[in-house]
Amino acid sequence: MERITFITFLLTAVFSFSACVANHYHFVNINLNWTEAQRYCRVNYTDLATINSKTDIDEMMKTVKDESVQRVWIGLHKTQKKTWKWSLGNPAFYTGNDSHYQNWESNNIHVDGDCVCMDGQNGKWDNTKCEENKNFICYNASSEEYIFNSPGMNWRDAQRFCREKHTDLASVRNQNENQTIQNIINNHQGSEKAWFGLFRDSWEWSDLSESSFRDGILGENDKNTENCTAVSLVGPHKKYQYWNCDKSFPFVCYNKFVLIQQNLTWNEALKYCRDNHVDLVSVESQQIQNSVMNVVKKASTAAVWLGLRQACALGIWFWVNGEIVCYQDWAAGNGTGVEDCSDTAGAVQSGDNQTWISLPQTDKLNFICTNYEA
Ligand SMILES: *[C@@H]1O[C@H](CO)[C@@H](O)[C@H](O)[C@H]1NC(C)=O
Ligand SMILES: *[C@@H]1O[C@H](CO)[C@@H](O)[C@H](O)[C@H]1NC(C)=O
Ligand SMILES: *[C@@H]1O[C@H](CO)[C@@H](O)[C@H](O)[C@H]1NC(C)=O
Ligand SMILES: *[C@@H]1O[C@H](CO)[C@@H](O)[C@H](O)[C@H]1NC(C)=O
Ligand SMILES: *[C@@H]1O[C@H](CO)[C@@H](O)[C@H](O)[C@H]1NC(C)=O
Ligand SMILES: *[C@@H]1O[C@H](CO)[C@@H](O)[C@H](O)[C@H]1NC(C)=O
Repeated sequence: MERITFITFLLTAVFSFSACVANHYHFVNINLNWTEAQRYCRVNYTDLATINSKTDIDEMMKTVKDESVQRVWIGLHKTQKKTWKWSLGNPAFYTGNDSHYQNWESNNIHVDGDCVCMDGQNGKWDNTKCEENKNFICYNASSEEYIFNSPGMNWRDAQRFCREKHTDLASVRNQNENQTIQNIINNHQGSEKAWFGLFRDSWEWSDLSESSFRDGILGENDKNTENCTAVSLVGPHKKYQYWNCDKSFPFVCYNKFVLIQQNLTWNEALKYCRDNHVDLVSVESQQIQNSVMNVVKKASTAAVWLGLRQACALGIWFWVNGEIVCYQDWAAGNGTGVEDCSDTAGAVQSGDNQTWISLPQTDKLNFICTNYEA
């Protein structure tokens, strides 16, 4: 019973997340090199596009309305150092520090070896050459099952196999899963080691997102000297391509913040964001304020609701994500905590001075929703 409830909870979490957390892509039809494109996106939106799934690619393609465009830069680029990643890169799959769970053999990570297997006898992890053939563990997200596969394959073929037949190679998020997977390996083959979904490479998203969605080309070009990634728009398969970062192409940015140009009360706006996106925006840093300032330029009302309200008894303002207000950017005389707080909420002005003001919650304003979990 407990197990069923837990599974239902997980499924709800995964599916509701993927349903509402589509990135909002913006095609920019200017030819810039990768670094210039990155700068442009960071100034005008949030960052160069990050891609979490095939659906994201489709969403991104819809924004490119110019048929003469052959390829667009996205945020994936090669860096100097390799980092560990899960093959199942969907951020919705992990909560808290789940994605950082590790269980190495005597803290011994080898210099060589970018793919990781588990020892069936003690559940410990070992990184070895990805080319070695080993049995492997797939994961099916809809049934929440681990599937043992034999005979062995090299890590990349195993990944391809799991993605085609199931969801992906198995991730290990905690001690329970470590134990479960160890038991499966042990039951099938005694002491031999089996691949699971951990690997390392030097590719990184511009926004440092953990997405490992690579559209099939992962790692194969690690010796390539072309360090930036574009998505090809010609042909039936929207494939990633590696290009020299100095080339100039159009590009795709994304926004974590969406301006909703409907005039709603603060409570209606909160409900709208929670039903259709994630939440009203909590502006907890100058960086978020900068993004908000870019977004509000297109508002049709003089002020735009933020996820900001007052705890009357305490006379303090707090964000809808539960945090109290540390970073602040109030207009003079506002946000002092002495306003008639019974029915006020916080808004950002959309004109030249984009500081915050307190307004009656019943005012009908545009508002900003977020597309990410805080
Ligand atoms: C790509 O990155 C590598 C490693 O950082 C560097 O040695 C190489 O010069 C870069 N290639 C180009 C074309 O910039
Ligand atoms: C995954 O599990 C679901 C539910 O049990 C099942 O219907 C589906 O066929 C499985 N998919 C694969 C590819 O095994
Ligand atoms: C992983 O699982 C193995 C086998 O059950 C256990 O011995 C080990 O302590 C676990 N490690 C951690 C860090 O949970
Ligand atoms: C919202 O209010 C503004 C200012 O009153 C008005 O210009 C705009 O047309 C309204 N928008 C909608 C969708 O009603
Ligand atoms: C905006 O308003 C604040 C406080 O009301 C003021 O200190 C600031 O100078 C103004 N900024 C601009 C650019 O007018
Ligand atoms: C809040 O700021 C606005 C815009 O600067 C100003 O018109 C208003 O008087 C301020 N409210 C208070 C209570 O000072």
